Amino acid sequence: MTKELSPADKAKFVAAKRACDYVQTGMKVGLGTGSTAAWMVRCLGERVREEGLKIVGVPTSTRTAELARQVGIQVVSLDEAKWLDLTIDGADEFDPQLALIKGGGAALLQEKIVATASDQMIVIADAAKEVATLGAFPLPVEVIPFGWQTTKALIEETLVALDVMNREVSLRMNGDRPLITDESNYIVDLHLKRIGNPRQLALVLNQIPGVVENGLFIDICDVVVIGHSDGRVQVR
Ligand code: 5RP
Repeated sequence: MTKELSPADKAKFVAAKRACDYVQTGMKVGLGTGSTAAWMVRCLGERVREEGLKIVGVPTSTRTAELARQVGIQVVSLDEAKWLDLTIDGADEFDPQLALIKGGGAALLQEKIVATASDQMIVIADAAKEVATLGAFPLPVEVIPFGWQTTKALIEETLVALDVMNREVSLRMNGDRPLITDESNYIVDLHLKRIGNPRQLALVLNQIPGVVENGLFIDICDVVVIGHSDGRVQVR
């Protein structure tokens, strides 16, 4: 599975593989979205096929559901599973408190619901995702399409009220159309450069009508498994 991997993929792969060691037969597992999470889904699929690992997976996007089925993982909905033992997912950034920015792959809504419904959330990431302060990566916010420009203006006003210095807000596009999430919503990206108080920002953003969820994951992640391109793995 690791033949001819680029250094970036090697780092993602080793983190994903190590995180899969936490998975045991009988578990209900939340399956994250993104290129790192895809390695985890492939690794779990390999264990299902070769070791007879028996798990059910709750995917966090249609793409992950498709991949999970392809590799032989039994897929169920969150409502069928009800509560999960573990979710393994990637992240765009993590800080020393294990607060995260997620949603680079536009799946933050299902990802946050699934991770919150899990006893444990393990994040898998390459070392480049580690930051002292969140915010260099644009913060994704999922908004409903109805009145999205008004919602965007309210987000901008909120950033002014919070004295946020850099506050460019952009609608995420897919070619010349707005990107549509699995829940038929839009994503606006907040280019803040630095998020001084992620907890406050997460709470305030979710008070704005039209905002469905934001990509700040606070007090959700329990463990970060960091992969390096030389094959080393660190666990935080
Ligand atoms: C998707 C996510 C991803 O986990 C995040 O964007 C990291 O992706 P990748 O592993 O491809 O860097 O939050 O919504």
